[in-house]
Amino acid sequence: MRVLGIETSCDETGVAIYDSEQGLLAHTLFSQVKMHAEFGGVVPELASRDHIRKLVPLIRHTFDQAGLALGQVGGVAYTSGPGLVGALMVGASLARSLAWTWDVPALGVHHMEGHLLAPMLEPNAPPFPFVALLVSGGHTLLVDVRGVGDYRILGETLDDAAGEAFDKTAKMMGLPYPGGPLLSQLADKGTPGVFEFPRPMVDRPGMDFSFSGLKTAVRNTVAAHAVAEAVPAQVMTDIAAGFQEAVVDTLAIKCRRALKETGHRALVIAGGVSANRRLRERLESMAHDRRCKLYYPRLEFCTDNGAMIAYAGCRRLEAGETSPLALDIRARWSLEDLEVVHD
Ligand code: KG4
Ligand code: ZN
Repeated sequence: MRVLGIETSCDETGVAIYDSEQGLLAHTLFSQVKMHAEFGGVVPELASRDHIRKLVPLIRHTFDQAGLALGQVGGVAYTSGPGLVGALMVGASLARSLAWTWDVPALGVHHMEGHLLAPMLEPNAPPFPFVALLVSGGHTLLVDVRGVGDYRILGETLDDAAGEAFDKTAKMMGLPYPGGPLLSQLADKGTPGVFEFPRPMVDRPGMDFSFSGLKTAVRNTVAAHAVAEAVPAQVMTDIAAGFQEAVVDTLAIKCRRALKETGHRALVIAGGVSANRRLRERLESMAHDRRCKLYYPRLEFCTDNGAMIAYAGCRRLEAGETSPLALDIRARWSLEDLEVVHD
């Protein structure tokens, strides 16, 4: 089956065509980062308007890139949640209209299931069952994955998501939006041991996370080292390195616990923060010590994209799932509420 996938849950317009026999045929992406940078964060109304502007040209371009005539698909998948409601509405309304015009089924896809299944687009796809660490701007989840749709949440964040912690800390340190990747670049130049920040909740049993205390600890350290309201550049890079190390350490400790509890031998990381070089390095060595294997998507599929939605949609549409005609947008939606897809 060949499926058009549309992602518009936040500040990226992603479009892709996935074919269950031939794999990924084409994918295009437009990032709104420059537009939101001026405001220091995503402005939901501007995001929706820009999705309206970009979506149709991107869809045309994706069909061209795949060498297909417009509409040569057997289904249309779109992100129906969680995310910004206005932005989701744009993708959902267009996807449903196209599916109706082309007389093919349409299906709303869970954004985090898209991230979770993104490593399936790679040549060395992870085998079921596995533990998934989903770390994005809005979510931090540890999931026991037994198959498509068969998800048990082992742990989640009680406050900020990992990406949100990166972004808020970066903003506090005076870095421009989007701060996460910039903060991690700065951190790679610093010395991790100079500043020791807390590893939140690691001494408690369980696999939940909390990152807001860490943010406060960084704020206090920045304030304590300011000389005439400016913090010396080397101190900043060392603070960034200390922060990154604390986040990475916390995530690695919880992943190790999850592998131990489930007995699974494969660990998948996905979502924007899985692009973090240090996190990959740490998880790679932890997995190696436990004789487990680490899987992650290529860099461009770590952050939001249409390919992961086309893939997840294809798996579900092939199993006969479709969404009703009424728009099924959800700002909040648990992975555990999804239907299990039986092969
Ligand atoms: O998955 P994603 O593109 O969007 C959401 O669904 O939220 O994730 C975006 C998040 C942002 O918070 C961004 O700062 C973070 O991923 N991020 C990173 C890195 N690259 C992106 N955080 C740390 N290190 C990175 N290299
Ligand atoms: Zn995402």
